[in-house]
Amino acid sequence: MSLEKINPTQTSAWRKLEKHYSEIHHHSLLQMFQDENRFEKFHLKFNDILFDYSKNRINEETKKLLLELAEECQLKDAIEKQFAGDLINETEGRAVLHTALRNRDNQPVFVKGKDVMPEVNAVLEQMKVFSEKVISGKWKGFSGKEITDVVNIGIGGSDLGPVMVTEALKHYQTRLNLHFVSNVDGTHIAETLKKVNPETTLFIIASKTFTTQETMTNAHTARNWFLSSEAKESDVAKHFVALSTNQSEVEKFGIDTKNMFQFWDWVGGRYSLWSAIGLSICLGVGYENFEDLLEGAFAMDTHFKVADFEENIPVILALLGIWYNNFFGAESIAILPYEQYLSRFAAYFQQGDMESNGKYVDRNGKVVNYQTGPIIWGEPGTNGQHAFYQLIHQGTKLIPCDFLAGANSLNPIGDHQIKLLSNFFAQTEALAFGKSEEIVVEELKKAGKTEEEIEFLKPYKIFEGNRPSNSFIYKELTPKTLGSLIAMYEHKIFVQGVIWNIFSYDQWGVELGKQLANQILPELENENQIESHDSSTNGLINAYKEMRHK
Ligand code: F6P
Repeated sequence: MSLEKINPTQTSAWRKLEKHYSEIHHHSLLQMFQDENRFEKFHLKFNDILFDYSKNRINEETKKLLLELAEECQLKDAIEKQFAGDLINETEGRAVLHTALRNRDNQPVFVKGKDVMPEVNAVLEQMKVFSEKVISGKWKGFSGKEITDVVNIGIGGSDLGPVMVTEALKHYQTRLNLHFVSNVDGTHIAETLKKVNPETTLFIIASKTFTTQETMTNAHTARNWFLSSEAKESDVAKHFVALSTNQSEVEKFGIDTKNMFQFWDWVGGRYSLWSAIGLSICLGVGYENFEDLLEGAFAMDTHFKVADFEENIPVILALLGIWYNNFFGAESIAILPYEQYLSRFAAYFQQGDMESNGKYVDRNGKVVNYQTGPIIWGEPGTNGQHAFYQLIHQGTKLIPCDFLAGANSLNPIGDHQIKLLSNFFAQTEALAFGKSEEIVVEELKKAGKTEEEIEFLKPYKIFEGNRPSNSFIYKELTPKTLGSLIAMYEHKIFVQGVIWNIFSYDQWGVELGKQLANQILPELENENQIESHDSSTNGLINAYKEMRHK
């Protein structure tokens, strides 16, 4: 069954929220924190993770109304349908079951009447056996040497997840060197191939469709490079494996299907790191750690499924996002991990969130009259502090931030961790409470400034504050914790898509560019003057043809 199709702005909760917004939007966090129990009221715990959402511009009434909105938009029903394998991705006629890939209690999950768990488990077993063989050195290259390097060739969801997770779990790295090639820019593969040896390199061709231009181009280049060494055609089987849903295209490419790791159309590309697409993760950090990642995600799935909405972390996170997006008019969210290992976390959720909820047509096929998905961006702290935080503190835009940090470093050196965390705490405090005129004046007086200088400098040094943030503190970055954090954001995206009444699991918006690129490609293969486009595109193509080496 499909999801309900409710315009959120037509609900009574929405109207109440609008009124409520007009009453409280000018309230300051400083005032709100007069309530000494505010942290108690607005934080949640989940295993090793603490979620503090007290530094948000909300009160108990806001929370109540947001929860009412979730109820009125039939969120409970939507969650049940997603987990049950209903065809909620209607424009593609598909179920959405990345949760089945990490369904660790192995309860049956049905898609069109068929339990998918036996297939899920069979592929996991195949990944286990294969990764253990490669890591242990039993899997040999064509000249009898062990594999030392793994090159994952994929793009979008077939790249970003494994890149982010293997970076996040570098502490747990196996002896294998991992490389990722995604861009069709020849530089990406060329620079990677400089670092590896055909005798000891395994190529993973990761593509759900196995037709993506970038990936197939890089895959063919890798294959030609491999065959230009001592290797023979029959050696391809030892050095190339495929992760895909498309068996016939894998065969056409020349990869033996016994070296193919299958997944299914009910796994969305940007939700696929839990599937065969995670093979590079298994090779990079070992199968056991991959399983722990699944365990962590499963724990979050269970919480999301069963916890009351008022204690449900992904639900609360999503509702806070809606509060800022639709009532305060915030356009973006910064994800700011105070954990160097999470350096690709924001980039990963740029695809996760923006490809899912970047939609202006609702589930009734109508153009929406409200805002949908936010812009997601961010970099690890403290680097961001010395780059873009100025605008978050004193700019004209409201940017709600998610701060994440481990209590313990996996690399405890001297006082690095307390310095890192002092910055984390300081930033959330400064954003929320700012710096008042009185304090600014007092500080300037202490610094010996004249009355005139104080008058001049004062406005620049005042911080309004009232910039909201969420804080996540976890014990340390284990595969399990990482799995939970990723699943938490995935469910947040889903909740928001349900409430915005959009289809979060298709991505038609990326098709037009692909289509046009395919039309333009043959026009670049000759030296003819081009006149088939608008004057700008014609001008650019013709200038390029003039400039390129003949
Ligand atoms: O960019 C569009 C997209 O379809 C993504 O959703 C997907 O993750 C990516 O391309 C790669 O697709 P594939 O795995 O089929 O190569």
